[in-house]
Amino acid sequence: MHRPLVIANWKMNTSLADASILASQIKSVADQLEVDIVLCPPFVWLYPVAEIIYPSNGFKPKNLKLGAQNMWFLPKGPITGEVSPAMLKGLAEYVLVGHSERRFYFHETDALINDKLKAALEFGLKPVLCVGELKKNSSEKSGRKRSATGEMDIVKQLEEAIYGVEKEDIEKVVLVYEPVWAISLGTAASRNAADGGYANFMIEKLREVLSKKYGRAVAERVKILYGGSVDEDNVKEFIYQPEIDGVLVGGASLKYKEFIKICREAVGRE
Ligand code: PGA
Repeated sequence: MHRPLVIANWKMNTSLADASILASQIKSVADQLEVDIVLCPPFVWLYPVAEIIYPSNGFKPKNLKLGAQNMWFLPKGPITGEVSPAMLKGLAEYVLVGHSERRFYFHETDALINDKLKAALEFGLKPVLCVGELKKNSSEKSGRKRSATGEMDIVKQLEEAIYGVEKEDIEKVVLVYEPVWAISLGTAASRNAADGGYANFMIEKLREVLSKKYGRAVAERVKILYGGSVDEDNVKEFIYQPEIDGVLVGGASLKYKEFIKICREAVGRE
């Protein structure tokens, strides 16, 4: 079983002051938690947050890392407004790829996501690849047999995103099953998480894809997380599932106390 991984996706939230306070608070307790934590602040706060969590002379908790929320796939060039993997290298260790908000607002295709994922690997960044079906199949109840269309969607997204990725690289990828219908609008009232059994079942399907392509042993070493409306109350539902290696947290990662409760709960899984 993997050491649990908890990724905080701050999305387009926080002022510089908020980001600095949140990062300092999380840093102050991180090394007491037996869990790996990745903070993904907005681009403009990557550097200030890096200075807080990785100061050149000072304490750096080993289990607290930085991630970017996006990148372009070319190392440099005339791409106005974008950031390259070469720029992120040495600053962040992880980068989100294929988040549904990027797919939706910026029309990112599976082919582009594949280019980004390979570019991240080439530059030594760990891609956090998000896949998820758009719609909830409400006629299908709890249990293992459901959402055939959802399954097809996520299998296709995964296969296309990892096209051409070699066996030795796949373990550097963190995969996230994030059903689009379960993602909140950032507020507690808009949370609508999947149920744990369902998420576990879908993650099993993703692991089968990896297993067919790279072999069972390799597939088991790939971390697969659940994301979508995770909070302090429902995190238990996901973290104790056998296939789920951690969580990607959006809205609830913006509140220090709630985020730390989620991390503490994840520790209990080990
Ligand atoms: P949420 O966001 O936890 O607010 O649903 C998760 C995500 O989109 O990464």
